[in-house]
Amino acid sequence: MTGRQFGGEVVLITGGASGIGAATARRLAGHGRRVAVADVDTRGATAVAEECGGLFVRTDVASADDNERAVARTVEEFGRLDAVVLNAAIPGRCGLDDFTPQRYRDTLRTDLDGVAYGLHAALPRLRRQGGGHLVVTGSLAGLTGSPDVFYATAKHALVGLVRSAAPLLRRDRIRLNVVCPGLVDTPAFTSRRTALLSHGLLLAAPDEVAAAIETVLADERTGHAWAVQAGRPATPVEWPEIPLVSRGAAAGRGGTP
Ligand SMILES: NC(=O)c1ccc[n+]([C@@H]2O[C@H](COP(=O)([O-])OP(=O)(O)OC[C@H]3O[C@@H](n4cnc5c(N)ncnc54)[C@H](O)[C@@H]3O)[C@@H](O)[C@H]2O)c1
Repeated sequence: MTGRQFGGEVVLITGGASGIGAATARRLAGHGRRVAVADVDTRGATAVAEECGGLFVRTDVASADDNERAVARTVEEFGRLDAVVLNAAIPGRCGLDDFTPQRYRDTLRTDLDGVAYGLHAALPRLRRQGGGHLVVTGSLAGLTGSPDVFYATAKHALVGLVRSAAPLLRRDRIRLNVVCPGLVDTPAFTSRRTALLSHGLLLAAPDEVAAAIETVLADERTGHAWAVQAGRPATPVEWPEIPLVSRGAAAGRGGTP
């Protein structure tokens, strides 16, 4: 989409202070969108918003009220809302061996509740405007699994959320997709960077994922999970068709319904 100008579309980006969210804010603003940067990191998000000529809205995505306020402030500032990138997340706070209910909840409240609340907050506004587009940042961990078990659990749930909700939102002209990056060179990975590189793994630059998000925002398709890896174009995942078994089909195979 490089070079295409999106005259004044308004995009709200959660987790926009750093990494993929910040790269997305910069890229979209550079191509003519007006951006609202929502994050718990006031300093980082204020800097990104200033750089992009956009708005900073202090938002903890784990709070339903904060998500409502982020949408309201964006509309107050720009007069409309065209798209939301539901991107904020944290690595898992525990695994199987150091599990506590609190750490598990801390992971899920940001990585899953944060997206559900953001979706819920944006839908009334998008419906009133006659449509819009929501892009969730998932992860390859949400397609393949990961040793970061509860992070991967949340990311799998986001794929299920998108595949389930997107068909219901078609009638409102609202598109909903999830972008699933592999390894990306962001602050979230600083501690593991050297080890990953020493294993020969490629890390995508944050702007590569931002470019994929921009591509998906401009795409007419809905309900897809898009795999994004270093040096590769965003590609929708092909799912197996699993039709529900009907009485006739079961009888035809000699089975019992
Ligand atoms: N870096 C990777 O390799 C990678 C791979 C796959 C998916 N992802 C996903 O990409 C997205 C962005 O991650 P990143 O790598 O850019 O990480 P990052 O740590 O650089 O950025 C995450 C941002 O989210 C914000 N944030 C955290 N909790 C929040 C909350 N409760 N409310 C509001 N903001 C909050 C942080 O302040 C930060 O600005 C996440 O959804 C992550 O799961 C990252």
